[in-house]
Amino acid sequence: MNETVQPETVDADRAVLDHFESTIAHDQRIEPRDWMPEKYRKTMIRQIAQHAHSEIIGMQPEGNWITRAPSLRRKAILLAKVQDEAGHGMYLYSAAETLGIDRGEMTEMLISGRQKYSSIFNYPTPSYADVGVIGWLVDGAAICNQVPLCRSSFGPYARAMVRICKEESFHQRQGYELLMTMMRGTDTQREMVQESVNRWWWPSLMMFGPPDEQSPNTEQSMAWKIKRHTNDELRQRYVDMSVPQAEALGVTFPDPELRWNAATGHYDYGQIDWDDFNRVVSGDGPCNAERIEHRRSAHEDGAWVREAAIAYADKQAARTKTAA
Ligand SMILES: [Fe+2]
Ligand SMILES: [Fe+2]
Repeated sequence: MNETVQPETVDADRAVLDHFESTIAHDQRIEPRDWMPEKYRKTMIRQIAQHAHSEIIGMQPEGNWITRAPSLRRKAILLAKVQDEAGHGMYLYSAAETLGIDRGEMTEMLISGRQKYSSIFNYPTPSYADVGVIGWLVDGAAICNQVPLCRSSFGPYARAMVRICKEESFHQRQGYELLMTMMRGTDTQREMVQESVNRWWWPSLMMFGPPDEQSPNTEQSMAWKIKRHTNDELRQRYVDMSVPQAEALGVTFPDPELRWNAATGHYDYGQIDWDDFNRVVSGDGPCNAERIEHRRSAHEDGAWVREAAIAYADKQAARTKTAA
């Protein structure tokens, strides 16, 4: 905009901004056709792409066990779960595309490290109990994070989240059911479950992101209603929900400071190792390189499918044109 701008342009700009702000203030949805500040658009692209990438990369740790599931029933359950995660990734890429970016671009940004995914998927899955613990704790933490996003101010994201959350809660229950079965089994199976819980508990707490005082974008995101609760609020809710579930299961969390606090009405918990978190986020986790390498080769192996689909669509379009 320059000095000679016409008064009616300023009024028009103010009118669209007012419309955006009043839509948010009235808890209504911003839709792709609506005007939105560039920073809102960029923030939404980053948030949705990061979520989509997490669903897709998140297929790998559990996918690791599909060929070695202990029974046909467990294999069918695991296949369906991993396939659900692919579906979540697809909805979310579609939601991001309404903001003017395409999924090819997002995949490139993921592979080149310019967009992130949840660090939780950079940990290995050496035991079958990990399949149950991921369902229970990782999908459980995802639900805590995502249920409030069903009320995100951006319409396509909020609507995708409704269906995704229903499927995530099913994942959580199937994970818990697997663990219940193992806990009713042999001592070795019970030890497998406890050993897996010991590895996943702290990383699952890190899924809520850095402490509030170190989360610079929280304030703006809450003002835009693309975030409804702070990281620490959601983390506390998750701890409060998980402790009774662990008791019912017969496992313990590896935190000697974890105890009920009658004064606050919440469980207190120990100090999270944020150095470890930062190390994994910045690319030095146990499986970062492997996850991206796998994604890159899958994308390259799929190039012929994308080319064939485009060639077919072109042929169809030419045929429709000729017929018309
Ligand atoms: Fe998912
Ligand atoms: Fe899930």
